[in-house]
Amino acid sequence: MILMNSYANPVRVGVAGATGYTGVELLRFLVRHPGARIAAAMGSPGSTARRVPSLARVWDAPVEGLDLDTLASSADAVFLALPDEVSAEIAPALVSRGKRVFDLSGAFRLRDADQRRRWYPHSPDLPASVVYGLTERYRNDLAGSPLIACAGCYPTAALLALLPLVSAGLVDGPIIIDAKSGVSGAGKTPTERTHFSECHGSLSAYGVFSHRHAAEIEQELGVPVTFVPHLVPIDRGILETIYVTLPRGASGTDVAAALESAYADSPFVRLTGNDLPEIKHVAHTNFCDIGWRINDRTRQIVLVSCIDNLVKGAAGQAVQNFNVAFGFDERLGLN
Ligand SMILES: NC(=O)c1ccc[n+]([C@@H]2O[C@H](COP(=O)([O-])OP(=O)(O)OC[C@H]3O[C@@H](n4cnc5c(N)ncnc54)[C@H](OP(=O)(O)O)[C@@H]3O)[C@@H](O)[C@H]2O)c1
Repeated sequence: MILMNSYANPVRVGVAGATGYTGVELLRFLVRHPGARIAAAMGSPGSTARRVPSLARVWDAPVEGLDLDTLASSADAVFLALPDEVSAEIAPALVSRGKRVFDLSGAFRLRDADQRRRWYPHSPDLPASVVYGLTERYRNDLAGSPLIACAGCYPTAALLALLPLVSAGLVDGPIIIDAKSGVSGAGKTPTERTHFSECHGSLSAYGVFSHRHAAEIEQELGVPVTFVPHLVPIDRGILETIYVTLPRGASGTDVAAALESAYADSPFVRLTGNDLPEIKHVAHTNFCDIGWRINDRTRQIVLVSCIDNLVKGAAGQAVQNFNVAFGFDERLGLN
């Protein structure tokens, strides 16, 4: 596998779902990316050509209606920012034409067939060589994969905080993830729950024991979790407050050491220690900020993990995966 890429021959990239929240973020990163050239950007099939107002004078090409043949012939790497059921159909078709696919949907994240049948019924089969696209965990597997199922937004924040502790045996008993997301997490089409007059001035829990991201978190951690998402009236950002207990004999030094060693070479994870992170410090960035406090008397740990759902939780992580997969510096186009 050739790992070094040069900017003289930028990778031709396509974005499907380019008119959605994460699709526009992808365009914003890719247009500045020295190793990529946007060769195709597409909305839903049959939609008329549109320009992206927020990218005027930065990237003025039209977004066309989706056409699989054109997408496949014009791009070597394709980002799918599509509804799950559309990705479920298109991703394997692109892979079979030799394209590298970075799928932002959940269609291929779950490896267990029963779990996939429950949460993503449109993807009964898992194409060979799919890699779960949490960059910090699967960095070494990305270059060899034609289909990268980029990690979900809530799971990214939860897993980056918890994986080092679970792997080091520093969690004793239940894991409780109290998660809060801005409204853009639900995509651009308003629903009764997400339109302005419903969510403005309010705060609500939803999906308790019935959110598909719990399955994704449990898959990667290998242990059960209690995951409670909340909708908060901000446009973007996720903050998760995570409650776990340290085993007897372990200490705060062990927690710090596990996190520091896990992320020593990870440019987008910032450990803030006792200074608990905030959404405004990660908004519009690809950073995941993780802070923690420990009660020595009760051995309880409270971790706080923050990301921008549209960036590290979606488009930014997809570009980070693209960078690793194509042998670029992991940070290229993302700083
Ligand atoms: N929002 C987040 O924070 C977030 C985070 C992580 C992952 N994701 C995942 O990323 C994907 C995109 O999310 P989003 O929030 O960007 O969604 P979105 O804002 O609703 O945008 C959806 C995009 O898909 C296009 N589309 C809709 N139906 C289509 C069809 N049948 N065929 C082809 N294109 C179609 C839309 O085109 P038109 O404009 O023409 O309708 C639009 O470009 C989803 O799978 C989502 O679960 C989202």
